[in-house]
Amino acid sequence: MTLASIHLLLTLTALLISKTGSFAENQPKSLSVKLGNSIQMDINKNSIPPFDELIWTFFSNYSKTIVTYHYETKEIDPDTAYKDRVDFNDQNFSLTLKNMQKNDCGLYGAITIGDRTTHVGEYNVSVVENHGSPTAIFLPWILFPSMLTAMIMI
Ligand SMILES: *[C@@H]1O[C@H](CO)[C@@H](O)[C@H](O)[C@H]1NC(C)=O
Ligand SMILES: *[C@@H]1O[C@H](CO)[C@@H](O)[C@H](O)[C@H]1NC(C)=O
Ligand SMILES: *[C@@H]1O[C@H](CO)[C@@H](O)[C@H](O)[C@H]1NC(C)=O
Repeated sequence: MTLASIHLLLTLTALLISKTGSFAENQPKSLSVKLGNSIQMDINKNSIPPFDELIWTFFSNYSKTIVTYHYETKEIDPDTAYKDRVDFNDQNFSLTLKNMQKNDCGLYGAITIGDRTTHVGEYNVSVVENHGSPTAIFLPWILFPSMLTAMIMI
């Protein structure tokens, strides 16, 4: 192998590693929550650069601000649409959303604004129906009482 081809190989390997690395980092974390339940989204605090504002956002058809946190004043400013069901923790910057509904499905992310804008967390949230509820289990027996009677007689 010539020196040039070794160099090329090393460059390609480095490129591949950096690509895979950034790919894994940019993949949103998947979270699933039952209809009506709460969901908590965390941020790795150590990965955050110094910032002026931290903004949790819902990225659906449009971008919707959920809560804005001002570092200097420690002020927490929830959007009116969310203020009754949002909890923001100003120690670790985690976001809790209560009473999740079907239309809350989608991508959520936190952005810090300072010298530069940084994405510090991204979540892909799905809201699932509550399966296996008692109604679903007992419904057949209500619909087919004769089936129940037959079973008892056996
Ligand atoms: C996105 O847009 C579609 C079509 O306009 C609409 O049906 C849907 O409800 C919207 N989703 C949200 C989360 O607003
Ligand atoms: C942040 O604080 C909240 C409330 O104390 C806690 O529930 C959550 O687990 C914390 N998150 C992290 C990443 O430490
Ligand atoms: C989010 O999750 C859904 C289903 O789990 C998937 O179809 C979708 O591609 C994901 N979106 C992103 C941006 O990862």
